Amino acid sequence: MQIKVESVLNALDLSRLNRKFDTATGSGLFHTLSDEDRPVFVDNLAAILSPAGKYFMLCFSELEPAGYGPRRITKREIQDNFREGWSINYIRPAIFENRTRTE
Ligand SMILES: C[S@@+](CC[C@H](N)C(=O)[O-])C[C@H]1O[C@@H](n2cnc3c(N)ncnc32)[C@H](O)[C@@H]1O
Repeated sequence: MQIKVESVLNALDLSRLNRKFDTATGSGLFHTLSDEDRPVFVDNLAAILSPAGKYFMLCFSELEPAGYGPRRITKREIQDNFREGWSINYIRPAIFENRTRTE
């Protein structure tokens, strides 16, 4: 499969797409957003998802050992950010593999 990226849109300004999607994915984005930006992102996400739309998210979690790496997102933070108008199907551990991981 080949994916061609034409342009990168600011995740905090998705609503200007003015269209709806059934599915959206986020890999490694949510934990990079500040406390102030996370609700802005979630509102923008809601604006581009159809009523039964789904968002699949992968982010660094509190289960990640302390030390190297970005901030950890707690389960509570996810629940708090996706509270109004959202239904969370599951939050479960996953491994975020990349080429820089040493173990
Ligand atoms: C940890 S990297 C993850 C990269 C890739 N998605 C992956 O899974 O390997 C976080 C990415 O989020 C992007 N990012 C951060 N804030 C953003 C924003 N407001 N809009 C769009 N992308 C953003 C960064 O440029 C960076 O590429």
